[in-house]
Amino acid sequence: FHIFSAVYYGSSVNWKQFAQEGKMEIAFIGRSNVGKSSLTNSLCGNRKLAHVSREPGKTRTINYYDVQSRRTVDGTEERQSWFLVDLPGYGFAKTSGKNAEDWSSFIDDYIMNSPELALICLLIDSRHPDLDIDEKAYAWLGTSGVPVLVIGTKGDKLKASEKQQNRRKLASNYPSVYPPVIYSSLKGTGKGEVLHIIESIVCR
Ligand code: GTP
Ligand code: MG
Repeated sequence: FHIFSAVYYGSSVNWKQFAQEGKMEIAFIGRSNVGKSSLTNSLCGNRKLAHVSREPGKTRTINYYDVQSRRTVDGTEERQSWFLVDLPGYGFAKTSGKNAEDWSSFIDDYIMNSPELALICLLIDSRHPDLDIDEKAYAWLGTSGVPVLVIGTKGDKLKASEKQQNRRKLASNYPSVYPPVIYSSLKGTGKGEVLHIIESIVCR
C-alpha cells in the first residue's frame, strides 16, 4: 500500500465545504510545532506539500490534500482516493483571545460533526508524552466517537531506550484500538506502521 499522489486541494474554516465531495477524511491534529505538516509531507513523499515552519502557528485553516493511494491484492490493483486533513495546532499563545474562540469553534465543529472523518491522528511530541494540553485534547477527541491513532513525533530525538519507554507511556496515557507509533519525519521511521493503519481504514 502506498500513496502515489497528493496534491493540495483547498482550505476552509467550514467542514461542510469539502465534505460535499464525499471522500473519506483522515485528520492530523496536535500542538503547534509538533510536526503535523512535516508528517503530512513525509507520508505523502513530498517535501513541499504542506508548509513547514520553525515558527509555530503557521497553519490557521482546515487544509485538505487530495490523496491517491494504491495496493495490489491477488495480482489486482486497487486504488483509493481520500482527503488528508491538516488542522491548525492547538496551545499556541498567539491564538489566544478572539482568535482562540474562532479556532476552537470551527475545529470542534469539524471533529464532532464531519460525516467523512474516519480517523484522527493525534500527534504528540515523543519527548513529552504527558503534557496536560495533549491529555485534554485526547479527552475531547474521545467524545467524537472517531477512532484516534496517537503518533509520537520527532522520534529521531530519542535514544533507543527512551523510544521504548515513551511508547509505553503514550500507550498508557492515550489508550486506543491502535497502538501508538513513534515517528520521525526526518528519517521516515514509523511510516510503514502509519500507512498500514491508514490502509485498513481507506480499504474497508
Ligand atoms: P504548525 O502548523 O505551526 O502548528 O506546526 P506543525 O505541527 O505543522 O509543525 P511543522 O511540521 O511545521 O514542524 C515544526 C518544526 O519541527 C520544524 O522546524 C520541523 O523541521 C521540525 N520537525 C518536524 N518533524 C520533525 C522530526 O521528525 N524530527 C525533527 N528532528 N524535527 C522535526
Ligand atoms: Mg503545520
